[in-house]
Amino acid sequence: MIRIALTKGRLEDNTIERFGAAGYDVNEVRHKGRRLILPISNTVEVVLAKAPDVLTYVERGVCDLGVVGKDTIMEYGGNYYEVADLGFGRCRFALACAKEQNFYAGFQTKRIASKYPKVAAAYFAGKGMDVEIIKIEGSVELAPLLSLTDGIVDIVETGNTLKENGLVIVDEIAPVSARLIVNTASMKMKKNAVEEIIAALRQ
Ligand code: PRP
Repeated sequence: MIRIALTKGRLEDNTIERFGAAGYDVNEVRHKGRRLILPISNTVEVVLAKAPDVLTYVERGVCDLGVVGKDTIMEYGGNYYEVADLGFGRCRFALACAKEQNFYAGFQTKRIASKYPKVAAAYFAGKGMDVEIIKIEGSVELAPLLSLTDGIVDIVETGNTLKENGLVIVDEIAPVSARLIVNTASMKMKKNAVEEIIAALRQ
């Protein structure tokens, strides 16, 4: 049996569509109700989990493969193989601030809100800039609107959320998309089955 961890939410529909296109029977996943473990063939089942948990399950080997955003991989790291860019869920990490503000003006230490504190810290470290990073769990755009921070580091897809809240991109940090990851032991122990799934999903 092969078990694959899928990310709930933003990537879910595209992921299910890709498994369907690869020849798996995704009917039960589409009509899952509250069920969390679902078969997609006689030998493959999927589980639905929050993005950071997908990394945990794959790293610990309770799932052989996972589909997760590069944003989560960049933030949490971990020990697994990243074997394919699945091409959907495209967005980017960006630094943004209020439209009327010059982010780099002034000498005080900037404050940055982010759901991705490690990505934000690495970005500013790379620029040699000392900043204070404040972890926010959702709707990060609120932080500069409330004057909590000078800017945000977040994922931008359509740009609508920034626009509707009077924020603009200052700098693009990195592209993001859905990735296929594999447990390091499964890659060896279940080589044929894993390679078959990778090939099917790449198409
Ligand atoms: C993400 C991100 C932005 C928004 C960007 O949030 O944090 O808020 O989507 O998308 P856009 O450029 O297409 O407007 P998400 O929807 O995951 O919700 P959250 O902020 O509550 O986590």
